[in-house]
Amino acid sequence: MSNNLLKGKRGIIFGALNEQSIAWKVAERAHEEGAEFILTNAPIAMRMGEINALAEKTGSKIIPADATSVEDLEKLITESMEVLGGKLDFILHSIGMSVNVRKGNHYTNENYDYTVKGFDVSALSFHKLLQSAMKLDALNDWGSVVALTYIAAQRIFPDYNDMADNKSYLESIARSFGYHYGLAKKVRVNTISQSPTMTTAGSGVKGFNQFINYSELMSPLGNAKAEDCANYCIAMFSDLTRYVTMQNLYHDGGFSNTGVTQAVMDRFTEI
Ligand SMILES: NC(=O)c1ccc[n+]([C@@H]2O[C@H](COP(=O)([O-])OP(=O)(O)OC[C@H]3O[C@@H](n4cnc5c(N)ncnc54)[C@H](O)[C@@H]3O)[C@@H](O)[C@H]2O)c1
Repeated sequence: MSNNLLKGKRGIIFGALNEQSIAWKVAERAHEEGAEFILTNAPIAMRMGEINALAEKTGSKIIPADATSVEDLEKLITESMEVLGGKLDFILHSIGMSVNVRKGNHYTNENYDYTVKGFDVSALSFHKLLQSAMKLDALNDWGSVVALTYIAAQRIFPDYNDMADNKSYLESIARSFGYHYGLAKKVRVNTISQSPTMTTAGSGVKGFNQFINYSELMSPLGNAKAEDCANYCIAMFSDLTRYVTMQNLYHDGGFSNTGVTQAVMDRFTEI
Protein backbone atom coordinates (compact mmCIF):
# COMPACT_ATOMS: atom_id res chain seq x y z
CA MET A 1 0.00 0.00 0.00
CA SER A 2 1.41 3.39 -0.93
CA ASN A 3 0.10 6.89 -0.38
CA ASN A 4 3.32 8.51 -1.59
CA LEU A 5 3.66 10.11 1.84
CA LEU A 6 7.43 10.39 1.49
CA LYS A 7 7.67 11.07 -2.22
CA GLY A 8 10.72 13.24 -2.96
CA LYS A 9 12.05 12.89 0.58
CA ARG A 10 15.59 11.75 1.43
CA GLY A 11 16.75 10.14 4.63
CA ILE A 12 19.07 7.94 6.65
CA ILE A 13 17.88 4.79 8.43
CA PHE A 14 20.03 3.44 11.27
CA GLY A 15 19.70 0.00 12.81
CA ALA A 16 18.40 -2.55 10.29
CA LEU A 17 20.18 -5.73 11.41
CA ASN A 18 17.83 -8.45 10.16
CA GLU A 19 14.25 -8.88 9.01
CA GLN A 20 12.97 -8.64 12.59
CA SER A 21 14.52 -5.19 13.15
CA ILE A 22 12.08 -2.34 13.49
CA ALA A 23 14.38 -0.29 11.22
CA TRP A 24 14.06 -2.98 8.54
CA LYS A 25 10.29 -2.55 8.48
CA VAL A 26 10.68 1.23 8.41
CA ALA A 27 12.99 0.95 5.39
CA GLU A 28 10.49 -1.25 3.55
CA ARG A 29 7.62 1.14 4.26
CA ALA A 30 9.69 4.26 3.47
CA HIS A 31 10.55 2.72 0.12
CA GLU A 32 6.88 1.96 -0.56
CA GLU A 33 6.02 5.56 0.28
CA GLY A 34 8.48 6.90 -2.28
CA ALA A 35 11.46 7.92 -0.12
CA GLU A 36 15.10 7.55 -1.08
CA PHE A 37 17.47 6.76 1.73
CA ILE A 38 20.81 5.45 2.92
CA LEU A 39 20.94 2.38 5.17
CA THR A 40 23.55 2.38 7.90
CA ASN A 41 24.69 0.17 10.74
CA ALA A 42 27.80 -0.48 12.83
CA PRO A 43 30.59 -1.98 10.72
CA ILE A 44 30.51 -5.09 12.93
CA ALA A 45 26.79 -5.63 12.24
CA MET A 46 27.52 -5.64 8.49
CA ARG A 47 29.33 -8.93 8.88
CA MET A 48 26.03 -10.78 9.07
CA GLY A 49 25.41 -9.41 5.56
CA GLU A 50 21.63 -9.54 5.83
CA ILE A 51 21.33 -5.80 5.23
CA ASN A 52 22.44 -6.34 1.60
CA ALA A 53 19.09 -7.96 0.81
CA LEU A 54 17.27 -4.92 2.20
CA ALA A 55 19.49 -2.56 0.20
CA GLU A 56 18.68 -4.46 -2.95
CA LYS A 57 14.97 -4.56 -2.23
CA THR A 58 14.77 -0.82 -1.52
CA GLY A 59 17.36 0.36 -4.09
CA SER A 60 19.45 1.87 -1.29
CA LYS A 61 23.14 2.30 -0.72
CA ILE A 62 24.71 1.11 2.55
CA ILE A 63 27.21 3.32 4.36
CA PRO A 64 28.63 1.74 7.55
CA ALA A 65 29.02 3.99 10.60
CA ASP A 66 29.62 3.40 14.28
CA ALA A 67 27.02 5.70 15.83
CA THR A 68 29.36 6.49 18.74
CA SER A 69 31.97 7.99 16.38
CA VAL A 70 31.42 11.62 15.40
CA GLU A 71 33.91 11.15 12.58
CA ASP A 72 31.89 8.21 11.18
CA LEU A 73 28.64 10.15 11.56
CA GLU A 74 29.96 13.23 9.75
CA LYS A 75 31.28 11.06 6.93
CA LEU A 76 27.96 9.20 6.72
CA ILE A 77 25.90 12.40 6.61
CA THR A 78 28.15 14.10 4.04
CA GLU A 79 28.24 11.05 1.76
CA SER A 80 24.49 10.52 2.12
CA MET A 81 23.78 14.03 0.84
CA GLU A 82 26.15 13.41 -2.10
CA VAL A 83 24.59 10.05 -3.00
CA LEU A 84 21.00 11.22 -2.59
CA GLY A 85 21.65 14.52 -4.33
CA GLY A 86 20.63 16.99 -1.65
CA LYS A 87 19.81 17.71 1.97
CA LEU A 88 17.91 15.21 4.10
CA ASP A 89 14.29 15.24 5.28
CA PHE A 90 14.25 12.41 7.82
CA ILE A 91 16.50 10.28 10.04
CA LEU A 92 15.60 7.16 12.04
CA HIS A 93 17.75 6.35 15.09
CA SER A 94 16.93 2.70 15.86
CA ILE A 95 19.93 1.75 17.98
CA GLY A 96 20.19 0.13 21.38
CA MET A 97 22.67 -2.05 23.25
CA SER A 98 23.61 -2.61 26.88
CA VAL A 99 26.80 -4.49 27.67
CA ASN A 100 25.60 -5.07 31.25
CA VAL A 101 22.45 -6.76 29.90
CA ARG A 102 24.49 -8.84 27.50
CA LYS A 103 26.88 -9.97 30.23
CA GLY A 104 24.06 -10.65 32.68
CA ASN A 105 25.18 -8.04 35.24
CA HIS A 106 22.44 -7.07 37.68
CA TYR A 107 21.46 -3.37 37.85
CA THR A 108 22.92 -3.18 41.37
CA ASN A 109 26.20 -4.66 40.19
CA GLU A 110 27.06 -2.69 37.08
CA ASN A 111 30.44 -2.73 35.46
CA TYR A 112 30.78 1.01 34.78
CA ASP A 113 32.94 0.56 31.71
CA TYR A 114 30.05 -1.43 30.27
CA THR A 115 27.57 1.18 31.48
CA VAL A 116 29.43 3.97 29.71
CA LYS A 117 29.69 1.94 26.50
CA GLY A 118 25.96 1.14 26.49
CA PHE A 119 25.12 4.78 27.25
CA ASP A 120 27.30 5.95 24.37
CA VAL A 121 25.68 3.53 21.90
CA SER A 122 22.07 3.85 23.08
CA ALA A 123 21.74 7.48 24.18
CA LEU A 124 24.67 9.80 23.51
CA SER A 125 24.81 8.62 19.88
CA PHE A 126 21.50 10.45 19.37
CA HIS A 127 23.05 13.74 20.47
CA LYS A 128 26.13 13.09 18.34
CA LEU A 129 23.88 12.41 15.36
CA LEU A 130 21.80 15.56 15.83
CA GLN A 131 24.82 17.77 16.50
CA SER A 132 26.62 16.43 13.41
CA ALA A 133 23.51 16.96 11.25
CA MET A 134 23.11 20.52 12.54
CA LYS A 135 26.78 21.43 12.03
CA LEU A 136 26.68 20.09 8.47
CA ASP A 137 23.31 21.81 7.90
CA ALA A 138 22.13 18.44 6.60
CA LEU A 139 18.39 18.65 7.30
CA ASN A 140 15.84 20.60 5.28
CA ASP A 141 13.38 22.89 7.05
CA TRP A 142 10.56 20.81 8.57
CA GLY A 143 12.78 17.74 8.57
CA SER A 144 11.92 15.01 11.05
CA VAL A 145 14.15 12.91 13.32
CA VAL A 146 12.80 9.94 15.27
CA ALA A 147 14.49 7.70 17.85
CA LEU A 148 12.96 4.55 19.32
CA THR A 149 12.51 4.16 23.05
CA TYR A 150 10.74 2.11 25.72
CA ILE A 151 8.47 2.90 28.70
CA ALA A 152 11.14 1.64 31.13
CA ALA A 153 12.32 5.27 30.93
CA GLN A 154 9.25 6.23 33.02
CA ARG A 155 8.52 3.09 35.07
CA ILE A 156 10.57 0.32 36.53
CA PHE A 157 10.89 -2.90 34.55
CA PRO A 158 13.65 -4.55 36.61
CA ASP A 159 15.30 -6.64 33.90
CA TYR A 160 15.54 -3.71 31.49
CA ASN A 161 18.54 -2.81 33.63
CA ASP A 162 20.69 0.19 32.64
CA MET A 163 18.83 0.51 29.33
CA ALA A 164 16.12 2.27 31.35
CA ASP A 165 18.58 5.02 32.23
CA ASN A 166 19.80 5.19 28.65
CA LYS A 167 16.25 5.59 27.37
CA SER A 168 15.52 8.39 29.87
CA TYR A 169 18.53 10.26 28.57
CA LEU A 170 17.57 9.55 24.95
CA GLU A 171 14.09 11.01 25.50
CA SER A 172 15.58 14.04 27.20
CA ILE A 173 17.84 14.68 24.20
CA ALA A 174 14.77 14.63 21.93
CA ARG A 175 13.21 17.39 24.05
CA SER A 176 16.33 19.50 24.42
CA PHE A 177 17.66 19.19 20.89
CA GLY A 178 14.13 19.45 19.54
CA TYR A 179 13.91 22.92 21.05
CA HIS A 180 17.15 24.13 19.51
CA TYR A 181 16.65 22.46 16.13
CA GLY A 182 13.07 23.68 16.00
CA LEU A 183 14.14 27.28 16.51
CA ALA A 184 17.03 27.04 14.08
CA LYS A 185 15.50 25.06 11.22
CA LYS A 186 11.96 23.99 12.13
CA VAL A 187 13.31 20.45 12.41
CA ARG A 188 11.16 18.10 14.52
CA VAL A 189 12.73 15.68 17.01
CA ASN A 190 10.65 12.98 18.73
CA THR A 191 10.93 9.59 20.35
CA ILE A 192 8.47 6.76 19.73
CA SER A 193 7.94 4.48 22.73
CA GLN A 194 7.24 1.07 21.25
CA SER A 195 5.65 -2.08 22.74
CA PRO A 196 8.00 -4.99 23.46
CA THR A 197 8.83 -6.51 20.08
CA MET A 198 10.54 -9.79 19.20
CA THR A 199 13.86 -8.58 17.74
CA THR A 200 17.54 -9.24 18.45
CA ALA A 201 17.76 -6.28 20.85
CA GLY A 202 14.39 -7.08 22.47
CA SER A 203 14.99 -10.76 23.10
CA GLY A 204 18.32 -9.95 24.77
CA VAL A 205 16.36 -8.76 27.82
CA LYS A 206 16.00 -11.46 30.52
CA GLY A 207 12.54 -13.03 30.74
CA PHE A 208 11.46 -11.38 27.49
CA ASN A 209 8.91 -14.07 26.60
CA GLN A 210 6.93 -13.73 29.84
CA PHE A 211 7.26 -10.03 29.55
CA ILE A 212 5.87 -9.74 26.04
CA ASN A 213 2.91 -11.94 27.06
CA TYR A 214 2.21 -9.77 30.11
CA SER A 215 2.35 -6.64 28.01
CA GLU A 216 -0.02 -8.18 25.46
CA LEU A 217 -2.61 -8.80 28.21
CA MET A 218 -2.07 -5.32 29.67
CA SER A 219 -2.73 -3.48 26.40
CA PRO A 220 -6.34 -3.02 25.28
CA LEU A 221 -5.24 -3.19 21.65
CA GLY A 222 -2.52 -5.78 22.28
CA ASN A 223 1.18 -5.20 21.68
CA ALA A 224 1.97 -2.95 18.73
CA LYS A 225 3.80 -4.88 16.00
CA ALA A 226 7.03 -3.79 14.34
CA GLU A 227 5.16 -3.20 11.06
CA ASP A 228 2.78 -0.81 12.82
CA CYS A 229 5.68 0.97 14.48
CA ALA A 230 7.08 1.44 10.98
CA ASN A 231 3.80 2.99 9.88
CA TYR A 232 3.94 5.42 12.80
CA CYS A 233 7.52 6.37 11.88
CA ILE A 234 6.37 7.05 8.29
CA ALA A 235 3.59 9.30 9.60
CA MET A 236 6.17 11.18 11.71
CA PHE A 237 8.46 11.64 8.71
CA SER A 238 5.59 12.84 6.53
CA ASP A 239 4.26 16.39 6.21
CA LEU A 240 1.08 15.35 8.05
CA THR A 241 2.72 15.77 11.47
CA ARG A 242 4.63 19.03 11.01
CA TYR A 243 3.86 20.53 14.41
CA VAL A 244 4.68 17.47 16.49
CA THR A 245 8.05 17.93 18.16
CA MET A 246 9.91 17.36 21.46
CA GLN A 247 7.48 14.56 22.31
CA ASN A 248 7.73 11.05 23.61
CA LEU A 249 4.98 9.32 21.64
CA TYR A 250 3.55 6.06 22.95
CA HIS A 251 2.98 3.40 20.33
CA ASP A 252 1.93 0.65 22.68
CA GLY A 253 -1.71 -0.40 22.18
CA GLY A 254 -2.72 1.63 25.26
CA PHE A 255 -0.32 -0.04 27.74
CA SER A 256 1.03 3.25 29.14
CA ASN A 257 -2.38 4.42 30.36
CA THR A 258 -3.66 1.09 31.62
CA GLY A 259 -3.74 0.29 35.34
CA VAL A 260 -5.04 -3.24 34.93
CA THR A 261 -7.11 -5.20 32.40
CA GLN A 262 -9.76 -7.87 32.88
CA ALA A 263 -7.44 -10.37 31.19
CA VAL A 264 -4.80 -9.74 33.87
CA MET A 265 -7.41 -9.71 36.68
CA ASP A 266 -8.65 -13.11 35.51
CA ARG A 267 -5.22 -14.55 36.22
CA PHE A 268 -5.68 -13.64 39.90
CA THR A 269 -9.20 -14.95 40.37
CA GLU A 270 -9.38 -17.37 43.29
CA ILE A 271 -10.69 -20.76 42.22
N1 LIG B 1 12.43 -4.78 20.57
C1 LIG B 1 11.79 -4.14 21.53
O1 LIG B 1 11.12 -4.74 22.38
C2 LIG B 1 11.86 -2.64 21.60
C3 LIG B 1 10.87 -1.92 22.32
C4 LIG B 1 10.98 -0.53 22.41
C5 LIG B 1 12.05 0.11 21.79
N2 LIG B 1 12.98 -0.60 21.09
C6 LIG B 1 14.12 0.11 20.49
O2 LIG B 1 14.06 -0.03 19.08
C7 LIG B 1 15.37 0.20 18.57
C8 LIG B 1 15.70 -0.88 17.55
O3 LIG B 1 15.83 -2.13 18.17
P1 LIG B 1 15.23 -3.47 17.57
O4 LIG B 1 14.30 -4.01 18.59
O5 LIG B 1 14.75 -3.29 16.18
O6 LIG B 1 16.50 -4.47 17.62
P2 LIG B 1 17.74 -4.70 16.63
O7 LIG B 1 18.69 -5.53 17.41
O8 LIG B 1 17.26 -5.25 15.34
O9 LIG B 1 18.33 -3.23 16.38
C9 LIG B 1 19.33 -2.63 17.19
C10 LIG B 1 20.36 -2.06 16.24
O10 LIG B 1 21.34 -1.26 16.90
C11 LIG B 1 22.52 -1.40 16.11
N3 LIG B 1 23.72 -0.91 16.79
C12 LIG B 1 24.27 -1.40 17.95
N4 LIG B 1 25.42 -0.74 18.22
C13 LIG B 1 25.58 0.20 17.24
C14 LIG B 1 26.57 1.18 16.96
N5 LIG B 1 27.64 1.35 17.76
N6 LIG B 1 26.43 1.96 15.86
C15 LIG B 1 25.36 1.80 15.03
N7 LIG B 1 24.39 0.89 15.24
C16 LIG B 1 24.50 0.09 16.32
C17 LIG B 1 22.55 -2.90 15.88
O11 LIG B 1 23.50 -3.29 14.89
C18 LIG B 1 21.12 -3.16 15.47
O12 LIG B 1 20.93 -2.99 14.09
C19 LIG B 1 16.30 0.25 19.78
O13 LIG B 1 16.51 1.61 20.14
C20 LIG B 1 15.48 -0.44 20.84
O14 LIG B 1 15.88 -0.10 22.15
C21 LIG B 1 12.90 -1.96 20.97
